[in-house]
Amino acid sequence: MGILFINGSPEKEGNTARLAHALLAGHDYVTYELADHKIYDYGQHFANDEFDGLLAQFRAADTIVIGSPVYWHDLSGMLRNMLDRFYGPVEEGSMAGKRLFFLFQGAAPTEEMLHRGEFTMNRFASLYGMEYMGMATNEGEARSLAASI
Ligand SMILES: Cc1cc2nc3c(=O)[nH]c(=O)nc-3n(C[C@H](O)[C@H](O)[C@H](O)COP(=O)(O)O)c2cc1C
Repeated sequence: MGILFINGSPEKEGNTARLAHALLAGHDYVTYELADHKIYDYGQHFANDEFDGLLAQFRAADTIVIGSPVYWHDLSGMLRNMLDRFYGPVEEGSMAGKRLFFLFQGAAPTEEMLHRGEFTMNRFASLYGMEYMGMATNEGEARSLAASI
């Protein structure tokens, strides 16, 4: 059991990853780079799909940190695709006992965009039984949220 950071940005040392460093300073954690894996769209079925591997790491962690840049006023496509892929193979409530933290930042996001992204992640957490722990949208907020890790 441990902390899994899922990076929904293709930038491994970008602004989303920077928020994860601030949130998780002093803790050991594993990073899953969505950009490094073939996780196809909901409804696509290819033999080299890697969603099952992601799901195994997700199930093995007790603290999940999900990060996304704002793309087109919303979650990144890679992250949204991951959420779609939960639909079906993952039973509702089956992630009970886990805590979910959300990191969300962009070049100039409006409050509405940030609120909408958080609404989705909050609903994702509750559908699968996880405790939603909050969102950080900048390094200061990430450092404050770190008290809950
Ligand atoms: C395809 C694309 C769409 C973007 N759309 C938005 C947007 O709608 N609003 C915004 O504030 N920033 C937008 N950005 C800027 C990124 O959110 C911003 O550069 C962010 O810090 C990137 O995070 P990263 O370094 O973790 O990748 C967009 C960037 C890309 C590549």
